[in-house]
This record gives sequence, C-alpha cells and structure tokens, in this order.
Amino acid sequence: MANPGLPVPAHPLLRALILLGAPGAGKGTQAKEVARIYDVPHLSTGDMFREHVARGTELGSRAKPIMESGKLVPDEIVLGMVEERVARKDCAAGFVLDGFPRTLPQAERLEEILGRLPLRRALAVNLLVDEEAIVRRIASRRTCKSCGAIYSAGAKMPRVEAVCDACGGPIVQRPDDREDVVRQRLATYNEQTRPVVEFYRRRSQLLELDGSKDIAAVQHELLALLARLHQQ
Ligand code: AP5
Ligand code: MG
Repeated sequence: MANPGLPVPAHPLLRALILLGAPGAGKGTQAKEVARIYDVPHLSTGDMFREHVARGTELGSRAKPIMESGKLVPDEIVLGMVEERVARKDCAAGFVLDGFPRTLPQAERLEEILGRLPLRRALAVNLLVDEEAIVRRIASRRTCKSCGAIYSAGAKMPRVEAVCDACGGPIVQRPDDREDVVRQRLATYNEQTRPVVEFYRRRSQLLELDGSKDIAAVQHELLALLARLHQQ
C-alpha cells in the first residue's frame, strides 16, 4: 500500500524511468518505492552485481574487486546483464533503472535496446545532492545482506537492531562504503557518469530534483512529476 498523502498513480508507467545521481544521492531508496507503487520491476545494476558476488558466480568474481575499488565494471559485462533482464516479460509495462546507464556507451546502447520495446520515451531524473551530504549519508548507510533493503542512522532504521524488517536478513555495511572507496566512487561518477546527465539533457529527456530533502519529500516530488508528465 502507498503511504497516505502520496499521489497514487492513475496510469501505468509504460516507460523506462532512469534515476541518475551520484553515489548516495538516493537512487536506490527512491527507485524501490516508485517501482513498488507503479508495480514494475526495479532494476539496479549494483544490486545485480552484489547478488552475483553473494552467489559466487564467475561474473560476481570479476565484478567484486572492481566494485571494491570504486571503479566501474566494464561496459560489455553490464550491458549483457541489462539486455537480458529488460527482455523479460515483466518489463513490458515499464521499469525503473537505478545505477544504469553510467557511461556514454551504456546510454547509447540503452537507447537502441529501448527502441525495440513498445514503451514511451525514457525519462531520466537526476537527484541533486551536494558531496558533503553524500559522504555523511553513505557513512551511515546499512544494507540487508539478503534482500538489499537500505537503512540509515539518519533516515530509517530497522525495528530490531541489525535485522532486516523486510526479510529478517542480517544488516551490514557495504564493503565499498568505506570512506576511501566512497571518494573514488565520487571521482568515477564525476569523470564517467556526469556526461550521461548531459546526454539526456541534450535530448530533452532530463528532469532534475532536489535530492537533499527528506526521503518522503523527494518521493512526493518524484511521483508528482511523473503524474504531471503523464497529463501532458
Ligand atoms: P551501486 O550499487 O549502483 O552504487 P552507487 O551508485 O554508488 O549508488 P549507491 O547505492 O551508493 O547510492 P544510491 O543513490 O542508491 O543511494 P541510496 O538510496 O542507497 O553500484 C555499486 C558498484 O557496482 C559501482 O561502484 C560499480 O563498481 C558497479 N556498477 C553498478 N552499476 C554499474 C554500471 N551501470 N556500470 C558499471 N559498473 C556498475 O541512499 C544512500 C543512503 O542515504 C542510505 O542510507 C539511505 O537511507 C540514505 N538516504 C537516501 N535518501 C535520503 C534522503 N533524501 N535523506 C536522507 N538520507 C537519505
Ligand atoms: Mg544504490
């Protein structure tokens, strides 16, 4: 059930909604809720890689050291994984992308993939948060090792200490949330992902939101924006 006071969607999503923003901007937090409210899949490439690492797959063993260094997994690995996922039936009414695309080649390839699907034009929403707030958020983030649910000392904590509300799994700190790795992740973002924001701006597919407000306020604005867009 949606939270009281939130705009309830009177229409299906029918598009790829792309959440952009620096590490810690709130992409995962918002993507999960929007996907739940619209009843479409939430596709997080970071979560997909963490699942591979947890399962000990070959892809996971290639991704793990790269993720822990704060750099990006090579495009061809990411693209293969996303292309396979988007082709599944449950993506037919739209989906929410979180952490993808992160490089220009990924953005260009995504356009080709989407061109083959009967969906409206993709929309990218960039969540804007300054770097100081990001470092604070990431330092206090905890994640469920089993289902990926996100918690934070400042925003949302589990009812029982270190136990996930959603699945009962253990809550841990992500290995790439150490301060030195966070700094590298921010540098990688500035170098490789900022051009993706400009890619969508040039194509008039970009909207920007102040991601520094509290979680509920950002969610309210994001849902209101999607509702307005549908009326146009
Ligand atoms: P990924 O998992 O995507 O990590 P990231 O982009 O660095 O993003 P984060 O998950 O840190 O931030 P978020 O924006 O989701 O914030 P969250 O909602 O959690 O990727 C990890 C790694 O995988 C990459 O470094 C790379 O190696 C690899 N990878 C993944 N995708 C790839 C790709 N496409 N290409 C190549 N490599 C790829 O929020 C953060 C914290 O803040 C939480 O504690 C939350 O509770 C809190 N919070 C959220 N919103 C608010 C708010 N409004 N106010 C206060 N607190 C808030
Ligand atoms: Mg995330």
